[in-house]
Amino acid sequence: MPEQTLTIALSKGRIYKDTLPLLAEAGIEPKDDPETSRKLILDTNRDDVKLVVIRATDVPTYVQYGAADVGVSGKDVLMEHGGEGLYEPLDLNIARCRLMVAGRPEAAARAGRLRVATKFVNTTRRYYAEQGKQVEIIKLYGSMELAPLVGLSDCIVDLVDTGNTLKANGLVPLEHIADISSRLVVNKASMKMKSARVKRLLKDLEAAVARRA
Ligand code: ATP
Ligand code: PRP
Repeated sequence: MPEQTLTIALSKGRIYKDTLPLLAEAGIEPKDDPETSRKLILDTNRDDVKLVVIRATDVPTYVQYGAADVGVSGKDVLMEHGGEGLYEPLDLNIARCRLMVAGRPEAAARAGRLRVATKFVNTTRRYYAEQGKQVEIIKLYGSMELAPLVGLSDCIVDLVDTGNTLKANGLVPLEHIADISSRLVVNKASMKMKSARVKRLLKDLEAAVARRA
């Protein structure tokens, strides 16, 4: 890639879909659709802007190491990653949900050491440590709602939006950990080396977000 290319990291699905209109308002439109194309680097209408489409949890890593200059990442993913090597200058206000403890209604009253299933291991450990509670954390990669149903855990830490997934599985929200939305993240070196271009993108996206408020 030419040195002056600005590379933006996005994940397929929800974040891509919600970021696209904001990028369009900033004058950036991809030439391919990641849902149908097998390409991992997408050209845009601008020769100097490329998109890389990766797993949601990999976005902070690509940006941290400068493999992408900027990225869009859920706050849940950033909390879990730790945010090292990244600036987080803008809340895009998309993909909004809550990170919660959930379980069967009776789990709230359960005494003794809790077993918690989650893919957010670091955040969960930090959350319970702040309360001085010792818990056993079981790492899962998805479908967390299943764990309490089959006796794998007492509760889960997962994202909740409408609450439909919890409800469909007989679970209830128990504790609120954090409000979540997607953030623009910027590599610290890119912020200096490509300062004018990053700041321009930031300003355009800021304006696009403000217009929606
Ligand atoms: P991966 O495929 O890498 O495991 P994922 O399945 O978490 O990632 P998505 O489901 O596209 O990827 O979620 C991307 C981001 O969208 C999450 O990190 C979170 O910030 C947000 N998100 C997840 N679920 C919801 C939801 N139900 N409603 C609103 N936002 C959500
Ligand atoms: C997310 C999350 C919950 C669900 C919550 O899953 O992991 O399971 O959304 O949303 P709700 O409260 O509106 O039901 P997602 O839909 O992204 O599926 P996946 O991560 O398992 O692919």
